[in-house]
Amino acid sequence: MSRHVNDPYVKRAQAEGYRSRAAYKLLDLQRRDRLFRPGMRVADLGAAPGGWSQVAAELVGRNGCVLALDLLAMEPIDGVEILQCDFREESALAALRQLLGDEPLDLVLSDMAPNVSGMKAVDQPRSIYLVELAVEFACETLKPGGSLAVKVFHGEGFDDVLRTLRQRFEKVVSRKPDASRSVSREAYLVAKGLRVG
Ligand SMILES: C[S@@+](CC[C@H](N)C(=O)[O-])C[C@H]1O[C@@H](n2cnc3c(N)ncnc32)[C@H](O)[C@@H]1O
Repeated sequence: MSRHVNDPYVKRAQAEGYRSRAAYKLLDLQRRDRLFRPGMRVADLGAAPGGWSQVAAELVGRNGCVLALDLLAMEPIDGVEILQCDFREESALAALRQLLGDEPLDLVLSDMAPNVSGMKAVDQPRSIYLVELAVEFACETLKPGGSLAVKVFHGEGFDDVLRTLRQRFEKVVSRKPDASRSVSREAYLVAKGLRVG
């Protein structure tokens, strides 16, 4: 609790109107990797409480669109379409496809993380499964040249994800934003330039 209260990113998020300190991780990725441009179509997977969606909506502007999905309910955000569902369910993918229509996406974001049990042997496969689903979704819905930024925890399965991304995208980098706690095993893989086919 005291770590949370004294965290400079928590204070900054409160002062600047972001719903979560996670917003600064995405802003850091944007500063380094230029993921967003005005007018883009973006999906934000694992979006609650909505810090990333707020940043995304600001950066794509009025001509863009952001589709946010989470298991949990989210307060509305201007310019963001919210879907409350479990990304592991086929019905969630069907709902997403329906909302997207025939227009491909420019950018897929995934900050999804399962509830942790504290047992690495259980938590790591659960989180890698969500990553694999996000990668599959990105490859299916992005336009050629599109980008993906996905949270992956270091551990079993990390290198396999990295290998898959390197096969499917032109450029892949691993990032540890300043706002990501050093004790956390999380990293963000930023994959740009989806290859055709
Ligand atoms: C670290 S939080 C995301 C924080 C968010 N990026 C922000 O800026 O506020 C991870 C989110 O992943 C969501 N999540 C975990 N498993 C999910 C699933 N199967 N389907 C959809 N969302 C999921 C959780 O409910 C949680 O809200």
